[in-house]
Amino acid sequence: MSRIKQITAREILNAKGMPSVETTVLLSDGKIGVASCPSGTSVGNYEASEIKDHNENHFLGQGVLKAISNVTDIIAPNLVGIDAIKQQIIDRIMIDLDGTQNKGRLGANAILSVSMAVAKAAAKSSTLPLFLYLREYVKKEDTPLKIPTPLFNILNGGMHAGGNMDFQEFIITPASSLSYPDALNMSNSIYASLRKVLETNNLSTLTGDEGGFGPKAASNKEALTFIKEAIAAKNLRLGFDVFMGLDVASSNFYRDKKYHIKDKSIAFSSTDLINYYDELSKEFQLIYLEDPMAEDDWGGWTEILHKIGQQTLIVGDDLIATNPYRLQMALDKKAVSGIIIKPNQIGTVIESLAVVEVARSAGLKVIVSHRSGETNDDFIADFAVGVSADFVKFGAPIRGERVAKYNRLLGINSQIKTLSNK
Ligand code: PGA
Ligand code: ZN
Repeated sequence: MSRIKQITAREILNAKGMPSVETTVLLSDGKIGVASCPSGTSVGNYEASEIKDHNENHFLGQGVLKAISNVTDIIAPNLVGIDAIKQQIIDRIMIDLDGTQNKGRLGANAILSVSMAVAKAAAKSSTLPLFLYLREYVKKEDTPLKIPTPLFNILNGGMHAGGNMDFQEFIITPASSLSYPDALNMSNSIYASLRKVLETNNLSTLTGDEGGFGPKAASNKEALTFIKEAIAAKNLRLGFDVFMGLDVASSNFYRDKKYHIKDKSIAFSSTDLINYYDELSKEFQLIYLEDPMAEDDWGGWTEILHKIGQQTLIVGDDLIATNPYRLQMALDKKAVSGIIIKPNQIGTVIESLAVVEVARSAGLKVIVSHRSGETNDDFIADFAVGVSADFVKFGAPIRGERVAKYNRLLGINSQIKTLSNK
């Protein structure tokens, strides 16, 4: 048994230069787990709350010193001495210490960094790689150990870039039959090809928060056309070798019950927007639509799943916010066929695992996702493989904080091969 001996925390910077909580957990056998929390930019209303200091003289009010003292002064004394493999007990103690619905007292950033660091330390003690350790917590299924299919966000719009597309993320996903290294290679070649297409059109190739290009396209549809051209230029077949998708993040342009996008001069009703998605999805082989409707437009969600759910995966991110109650609502209303899992939207490893479990047994596809304000922590790569996620969404195949996850998947890929050769 290895007990928690010490928990310390400090402020580090995330990929956007903003503070994040990094926690170190030391166990009685000397094993150490270090983990840090990401932050979102287009944050949903139903997410667990991050605690920020709001001191304008310290990182423009974005400091996390209060969250850090919550780790060291409140959480640590309650966890020292507990066996680190008791993740359920550890996370439950933190949930109870917080006592709010949204982790608003101690902060999801404080709690999750401890929760992940405990899991990492416990995995080391058990001598299992983290993905296999986490797999012990999910229902034993016959699902083979494999790398989830990656969704690469290669054009950034919305709140993630200085361009002017309303849709937040323009995604490519290689056919799931491809090996993971081949999928990475394909994403790299399409990304390079897209750069050329943008240059030919005299558009900027500066990149946004998640590593995709952020050009000023004339419309969202034009942005999709650029990607289609980039794919064709590589002699790849759209709809066969590679598919396209969108994270629309539509809550960001939903006002007065209407959707305001640049493709049309008048605002769209939910039905108008769904018809537009239908048109786009046929023209561009969109197999993936995340947050196509706003987080409170339940009627729109039910309508879109009913109308185009056969051809396109309809995925809830802001809608569900990795929250079990929101997930149940989405299931009751037949709103989605897939769910985004972001551990920092709910705040503990155990609750994230539980949401995956419910989603999976309801037949939803599971997509494990990064945040725009990532750190170099690669926990979610192991988490995704451990829970047998269908997809991972870690951004473009560039930028240190994104490739940290893609590279970890390469490592896991080799470890899985070694295991299956034994
Ligand atoms: P965020 O965006 O990390 O800025 O919230 C990611 C997403 O919407 O999927
Ligand atoms: Zn999203």
